[in-house]
Amino acid sequence: MIKSILCIGAGYVGGPTMAVIAKHCPEVQVVVADINADRVAAWQSGHPPIYEPGLVDVLNASLGRNLRFTADIDGAIRDAEMIFVSVNTPTKAFGRGSGKAADLQYWEKTARSILQNAQGHKIVVEKSTLPVRTAEAMERILQSGNGGARFDILSNPEFLAEGTAIADLEQPDRVLIGGAETADGRAAIEALVEVYAKWVPRERILTTNVWSAELSKLAANAFLAQRVSSINAVSAICESTGANVLEVARAIGSDRRIGASFLKAGVGFGGSCFQKDILNLVYLCEHHGLDEVARYWESVVTMNQLQKRRFVDRMLRAMFNTLADKRIAVFGFAFKADTGDTRDSPAIQVCRELLAEQARVCVTDPQALPAARRDLADAGPRLSFAPDPYEAARSAHAIALLTDWHEYRELDFERLYASMQKPAFLFDGRNLLEAERLYEIGFNVYSIGRPPLSRL
Ligand code: UDX
Ligand code: ADP
Repeated sequence: MIKSILCIGAGYVGGPTMAVIAKHCPEVQVVVADINADRVAAWQSGHPPIYEPGLVDVLNASLGRNLRFTADIDGAIRDAEMIFVSVNTPTKAFGRGSGKAADLQYWEKTARSILQNAQGHKIVVEKSTLPVRTAEAMERILQSGNGGARFDILSNPEFLAEGTAIADLEQPDRVLIGGAETADGRAAIEALVEVYAKWVPRERILTTNVWSAELSKLAANAFLAQRVSSINAVSAICESTGANVLEVARAIGSDRRIGASFLKAGVGFGGSCFQKDILNLVYLCEHHGLDEVARYWESVVTMNQLQKRRFVDRMLRAMFNTLADKRIAVFGFAFKADTGDTRDSPAIQVCRELLAEQARVCVTDPQALPAARRDLADAGPRLSFAPDPYEAARSAHAIALLTDWHEYRELDFERLYASMQKPAFLFDGRNLLEAERLYEIGFNVYSIGRPPLSRL
């Protein structure tokens, strides 16, 4: 059994994953290293820099026992038998493949640090979502050294979803491990299987070749995102015809072959994975001359852009075709509930479009205001922030609910209504609230894919 594990990258994936490994493998020393010293200090103090339900307890159970965080990446590499790479791989914002391909600069820097500092035998586990065949590139970089160390490269894609990371790690549907089909490769796979087998039933640990593992990650996210875009496309038809997307989703989801999950129509999907992974897939298809296949997957993203635009269009039409100087309270900026993460959040585009219409936007969110301030740093004086939703809605013409935070269900809507300008509008971008009750209070209610409840 492996005795020392290092994870490079203490983010949404690396932090929670290592906390859960440390919990279940008390005999293994787990170290998490990051270039960002502030992040390291936050993790090490037991107050993680990310919000994730249940994380603090799992973290504190192992901190100081067999889990620690460090900024000394080089030293940590020297000491570890198994090294997870979990650094960020955002979509490239420059040069070739800009807007589609993955930006691999952090990942490559990590590969080079491993090469410079490693001695003996190391198993390198790729955790970042990367375009297919990157493990091969990692292998080429690592084998380019002058024989100081021997490496086996595994791909172990992460399927945790933010907001449910701990539950997803504790009870995964499956763990996927890809490795080389050689004796060394099989031994490396088995070493990682042994780690997960401490708490995951063996039959849920799937082993494949490296490329299947990498492609499975992109394809799984593309399938999930495609379901969301499909139901959002249906919501557009519902809005035009008077059908109700909740009823349609229920009817579709009752078919066991289809299933009920990921059929919630909304303002569009966000998060660090869906769009990035689909665009990676598109780039990969184009690279292999599969242009029609590329267009097929690209349409999932196109649909998502449209959904955000349609949301603002509907607001504009409902509010007499002008938003200029109207106050809009944006409830929720995170890309989903139970996270402070705003990467690719639909709220970013919606807020920008509202501001382009010269609306006055006040954003509230229980966890994501620091990230929202960064995302909209250039927005100017029409934008403001308020931690308290009642303050955000005071004197507003409309509330636009963009994140499915549970606590928004519990708000005192009579109080909100009383403090707003009339006619008061509520645009529920997540179908979270009870539209009929809000209508009875006096709101003009516009939900996604449902007929409006309006007195106008
Ligand atoms: C996703 C995958 O689920 C996970 O397996 C992978 O490891 C990373 O990407 P995540 O991005 O954290 O996880 O969240 P997820 O729950 O999948 O939601 C993604 C987006 O889709 C969110 O913006 C969510 O609000 C939206 N969504 C999801 C819908 O609009 N409707 C749905 O029915 C489901
Ligand atoms: P993810 O959602 O994939 O976990 P995050 O952005 O949350 O992505 O986390 C990635 C982490 O990787 C960040 O904390 C970042 O500081 C760290 N990181 C990036 N490059 C390096 C590097 N070369 N060495 C160590 N850590 C790195």
